[in-house]
Amino acid sequence: MTQDLSQLAQEILRRNDRGGYTVPTHGLYPYQWNWDSAFVALGFAEFDRDRAWQEIETLISGQWEDGMIPHIIFHKDDPGYFPGPSVWATGKTPATSGITQPPVLATIVRKLWEDEGADPANPRMRALYQACVKSHRWFHTYRDPLGNGLVMVTHNWETGRDNSSEWDDALARVDTSGVGTYQRRDTGHVDAAMRPTAVEYDRYVAILQFGRKSGWNHREIADHGPFRMLDVGMSMELLRANRDLLVLAQALGDTAVVAELEARITLSEAGMDWLWHEEVGAYCSRDVTTGESSGLVTNASFLAFYAGVGSPAQRRRLLAALDRMTGSATYLVPSLEAGSRAYDHKRYWRGPIWLVVSYMVGQGLAEAGHEDWAERIRTDSRKLIELSGFYESFSPETGAGSGGPDFSWTAAMWLAWCGK
Ligand code: GLC
Repeated sequence: MTQDLSQLAQEILRRNDRGGYTVPTHGLYPYQWNWDSAFVALGFAEFDRDRAWQEIETLISGQWEDGMIPHIIFHKDDPGYFPGPSVWATGKTPATSGITQPPVLATIVRKLWEDEGADPANPRMRALYQACVKSHRWFHTYRDPLGNGLVMVTHNWETGRDNSSEWDDALARVDTSGVGTYQRRDTGHVDAAMRPTAVEYDRYVAILQFGRKSGWNHREIADHGPFRMLDVGMSMELLRANRDLLVLAQALGDTAVVAELEARITLSEAGMDWLWHEEVGAYCSRDVTTGESSGLVTNASFLAFYAGVGSPAQRRRLLAALDRMTGSATYLVPSLEAGSRAYDHKRYWRGPIWLVVSYMVGQGLAEAGHEDWAERIRTDSRKLIELSGFYESFSPETGAGSGGPDFSWTAAMWLAWCGK
C-alpha cells in the first residue's frame, strides 16, 4: 500500500505541475500559492531535486521590490477562480495578489540545502537566501506594529488558516456596505458546507478592496487597514524561519545579517508572551486594535515547540491541551478545539485537520523530545491518507476528506513525512 500511495503521490505532483510550479489542486486553486509551494518542494525533493528547487525559484519570481512574497502568483489567467488578477489589480509582472502568506520558505530552503550536503557555495541556496532576507525584512518593517517581534496580518487569507474562528470578532467589524456584487467560484468546485459563508466572504472582499484602493501601499494598509491581527501561526513560523535563516547566514559568513537575525530572534522570543492566554493555557491570536485575545486553541497554538518558545510550565499546559483534544478527536491535530464556538469538523479551518500544520507541529514536538506525541501525529496523518486519499483537509472525527481532492501539499507530506 505504501508503494502504491507513494506512486500516486508522485503522480499528483506531476499532474498538478503547470511547468515550473504546481497548482494546489486542479479546479479550486488554479494558480501558484506561496506556502503550498514551499511544502510541495519537500515532496518533489524525494524524487526530483531539481524540480524541488525550481518550485521555489518560480515562486520567488513574483517577489515584490519591497520584499513581499505574494500569497498567489497568477502565472496564467483562469476564469474559474475568484478573486483573480483583475480584482487584485496590483499591476505586477507576473501578476500577483497584494498580500503575503506564512513565511516558511527559509525553513524549507535550509532543509533542501542540508539534505544536499550543506555546501555554502550552493548557488541555488545563495539566491534563495537573498530572497528570504528581503522577505523577512519586509515582515520586520511592515508587520511588527508593537515592536515586539510578532507578526501582524492585514488579511485573514495571509494566515493560510483562512476562516479560522480566531478572526471572527475582528471580521465582524469590517464594513461590507461598499462591496458590491461578485461571483464566487469556490462553491462551484466543492460543497458549500465545507467553505466559508457568504457573509464571511463579503468581509474578505472588503479587506481586499481597501488594499486595492490604497494602491497596495503596505504602510497605509498596516497602519489603517480594516483587519489587524497578531497571528499565532505566522509569529511562530517567522521566528522559526529566522532561526533557520540564521544558520544560512552563518554558513555564508554574512555577519551583518547574523547580528540582525539574532536581535530579531531575541525580540520575538520575549514578545511571544503577549499571545499567551493564561486561563486558556495556550498561545492565542490577538487583535492589535482592541488588544483582545481570541482565547481559542487551534492547531497553530502548538507551533510553540516548532518555534522553540514556552517555559516548562507553558509547555506542560500546551501538552495538556493536546491531550484534551484526543478526547473528542479520533485523529490529531484538529484546526480548532471541539466544543469551541464555531467548531465544525467539516468546515475548512474550523475543525478539519491540515497535514502541513500537523507536520510542523510534529516536527517541533520531536525536536523538543516529545517523540510519543510526534509519532502519534505522524501515524494519524498517515491513516487519514490511507483512509481517504490525498484530500485538502480531513475530519478529525471520521477521517473523511474535505475540500478539494488530489491536493499537492497533502501528496508532498506523504512523500516527505508521514508515508515514509
Ligand atoms: C486555502 C488555504 C490556504 C492555502 C490555499 C491553497 O486558501 O486556506 O492555506 O494556501 O487554499 O491551497
